[in-house]
Amino acid sequence: MFKQSLVLFAVVAAVAYAVPSIPNPSQYYMSGTFSIPYFNIVEPIELIYDGVNNRQYISYYNGMDITLNLFEQNISYSIGPQVNTLICQTIPGNGSLITVLPPIPSEWSFNGTSTVNGIDVFSYTQKVVNYGKAAYYTFYVNSDGTPVQFYLNGVDFIFDSHPDVYILDFTTWTTDISQYGSIWEVPALCNNAEEATHAQFDQFEEIFGHIDSSNKKMDSSFDQFKKQFGKTYENTLEHNTRFATYKQMLHRVATHNAHNSESTYKLAMNHFGDMSDEEFRKFIIPHVDRDENNGASEVHDNEDVSALPASLDWRTSGCVTPVKDQGVCGSCWTFGSLASLETVACLKHNKDLISLSEQELVDCAYVGQSMGCNGGFASNAYQYIMNAGGIATESDYPYLMQNAYCKASTVQNSGVRVQSYVNVTAFSEAALQNAVATVGVVAVAIDASAPDFRYYSSGVYYSTVCQSGLDYLDHEVAVLGYGTDNGQQYWIVKNSWSTYYGNEGIVWMAMNRDNNCGIASQATYPIAV
Ligand SMILES: *[C@@H]1O[C@H](CO)[C@@H](O)[C@H](O)[C@H]1NC(C)=O
Ligand SMILES: *[C@@H]1O[C@H](CO)[C@@H](O)[C@H](O)[C@H]1NC(C)=O
Ligand SMILES: *[C@@H]1O[C@H](CO)[C@@H](O)[C@H](O)[C@H]1NC(C)=O
Ligand SMILES: *[C@@H]1O[C@H](CO)[C@@H](O)[C@H](O)[C@H]1NC(C)=O
Repeated sequence: MFKQSLVLFAVVAAVAYAVPSIPNPSQYYMSGTFSIPYFNIVEPIELIYDGVNNRQYISYYNGMDITLNLFEQNISYSIGPQVNTLICQTIPGNGSLITVLPPIPSEWSFNGTSTVNGIDVFSYTQKVVNYGKAAYYTFYVNSDGTPVQFYLNGVDFIFDSHPDVYILDFTTWTTDISQYGSIWEVPALCNNAEEATHAQFDQFEEIFGHIDSSNKKMDSSFDQFKKQFGKTYENTLEHNTRFATYKQMLHRVATHNAHNSESTYKLAMNHFGDMSDEEFRKFIIPHVDRDENNGASEVHDNEDVSALPASLDWRTSGCVTPVKDQGVCGSCWTFGSLASLETVACLKHNKDLISLSEQELVDCAYVGQSMGCNGGFASNAYQYIMNAGGIATESDYPYLMQNAYCKASTVQNSGVRVQSYVNVTAFSEAALQNAVATVGVVAVAIDASAPDFRYYSSGVYYSTVCQSGLDYLDHEVAVLGYGTDNGQQYWIVKNSWSTYYGNEGIVWMAMNRDNNCGIASQATYPIAV
């Protein structure tokens, strides 16, 4: 009985009105108004879409700005005012036509009837998720299928900071564009037009060009990221939070690369892409209080650089181990200090390179303020190895990425021992250069908290944000040498953030630019027995 009445109801509903479908013509003309309520913008719009001939015309503000995409001729024209003259610029190449209709109607669902602009309408919606926010696009047509309004809410393609609402009201609509033939003639203004030097901003391309593809693009980009870096998440909540962070970080990387053409370095997405700034500070570069005296026996204060080679890379000596990975554990101090000891010991005895155990330091070297995965100092690492009479090899005492019980007494000693350790004159890049050139790899502490540092990819890293004062140093790394790129001097710095970071794990940091990021503020090296 119940089932029967449902069927009956469905039949009655179908008889009551025929639902018009979303138009999907290959050619159309529309005019109307485009509104962005947040900015009180209401602009007249005219658009001719010609999918048959792969071309289109868009006029903003009654022809004040015109976009003419003639992709069948492999060219676009952008006409608009510059100060007080109208100019035309050409943009060579092909592209995709922008439509202001739902591009894939089958992915939209019918959502009932209502009234828009005084017209009885039928609505279709599509769910979109952007920057972690769900929103709906709604497209309204009248009873004969003529578009009435396209309402976009929470698109957030252009502005990150406020809810975006864009409304396109259709006032004229036809699928017969034959009367607009003359529109395709290139305006005289464009004869001998210059090629655009910058990418041309087109509102509609930014807003409508993303519909239907943006979700999928972001999803597949995040899928790719998860696959590449072997990411798995506990549950949907964590997944969604990580995804939101990922999009933010991707934005950070893309923004730096797009807007800093003068910058000497590039950023790239890497395995830190799903980690918030707070997590990064807490787990990767934790702050540790400074010991009053670090126990160094002497100071390397030779600042003479006149006889040193112009460039140098200890990796060519065969005495540098491959880049390692501290993972999610604030153990940088064990990696930076051992990178120096490995090379110094190898050079001293001219024998095999031995990779040493960071985990032994994490587990056992509770010297001074150092405390395993919660951070520490290179000087404490050397102090521990002096006291312990040596340190195990990496393979005998492998890395666990967490605080564990100290197993030093049951694991074999590598034979590498530390006699004492040396401060390099604080804040002196000249003394650091002298030490690197005459001693070998040197452990240095830097301020790694600048938001872009963790996504460094190539070039010479220089930051106006990082600090060089002792209290700002939060990350231990090792200087392997130095060089010059396009007139920019740099330190070759071995990081411990895996080979996914930077250039196969290496970052070039600005040299002789006022001790940038504190590279020479707290440099130390051990003297091997
Ligand atoms: C532009 O791209 C479209 C679609 O990919 C293609 O059909 C067309 O031939 C291209 N036009 C030119 C001039 O390369
Ligand atoms: C289209 O223009 C681009 C950019 O100028 C050019 O590289 C490409 O060869 C052109 N293609 C055709 C089919 O003319
Ligand atoms: C469908 O329409 C109703 C009423 O107008 C609205 O509250 C709801 O959010 C719409 N659903 C979608 C998926 O847009
Ligand atoms: C080495 O530098 C530390 C600060 O990093 C300082 O506390 C210590 O006194 C210095 N040691 C010597 C021998 O100058």
